[in-house]
Amino acid sequence: MNGALSTAERYAGSLRVLHWLIAALVLMTWPLGQMIGFVKDDVKLDFYLIHESLGFLVLWLMLVRIGTRMTSGAPRIEAPPLEKAAANTVHGLLYLFLIIMPVSGFLATNAHGFPLKWFGLFTVWSPIGKSPDIAFALSAIHTWSAWILLALFALHFAAVIFHHVIRRDRTLYRIL
Ligand code: HEM
Ligand code: HEM
Repeated sequence: MNGALSTAERYAGSLRVLHWLIAALVLMTWPLGQMIGFVKDDVKLDFYLIHESLGFLVLWLMLVRIGTRMTSGAPRIEAPPLEKAAANTVHGLLYLFLIIMPVSGFLATNAHGFPLKWFGLFTVWSPIGKSPDIAFALSAIHTWSAWILLALFALHFAAVIFHHVIRRDRTLYRIL
């Protein structure tokens, strides 16, 4: 019963909405990124466009989220120090990689010489133009970070299941 949680035990409403909005976007963007390498050539550009446009949205939502998180904070975690440190570390790294992912992808596509036309509407300004010398390094950062993000999400999801199914505590309701 999430109604039983007081405001001190739950994330602020805006942070709860941003959590689920960003989670849904990432859970679409990630597999779409993987699929680019497998789809037929005639739809490849569409997959790039949707992947990049959704991913770019994550960057702006994350900036709003970081600002909101810094002003409204988080509910206190009632747990032993080691558990608290583990939760804070994984959450902090998720925040970090949710910035690294869209930034590296955005810079990579510009470095390869394909500026982002957001959902086909307008071309997004980029601090770098076509730069073949760094393009593949940026792509490598994007690819490796994608696997790190997946590993962090696996830890995050496993922790939620552990709290909800094994410990049967109210952790999940803090974000609902
Ligand atoms: C949360 C945001 C994002 C996630 C989780 C994500 C995830 C992924 C994944 C899993 C791949 C496949 C990796 C591979 O096979 O190499 C990929 C590829 C790619 N993504 Fe993203 N991505 C995000 C945002 C973006 C953005 C904003 C852009 C560009 C504006 C972008 C551009 C690309 C490109 C060009 C590729 C093809 C491989 C490359 O050249 O790097 N991504 N992405
Ligand atoms: C799909 C199922 C998901 C569930 C059930 C879930 C559940 C939760 C829960 C219960 C919390 C609160 C933890 C606490 O109170 O200490 C939380 C926080 C968080 N989640 Fe998720 N989550 C999911 C997906 C995701 C995804 C896909 C991401 C990002 C890739 C993500 C990133 C985060 C972050 C960064 C926090 C920390 C928020 C903060 O401290 O500001 N979550 N999640």
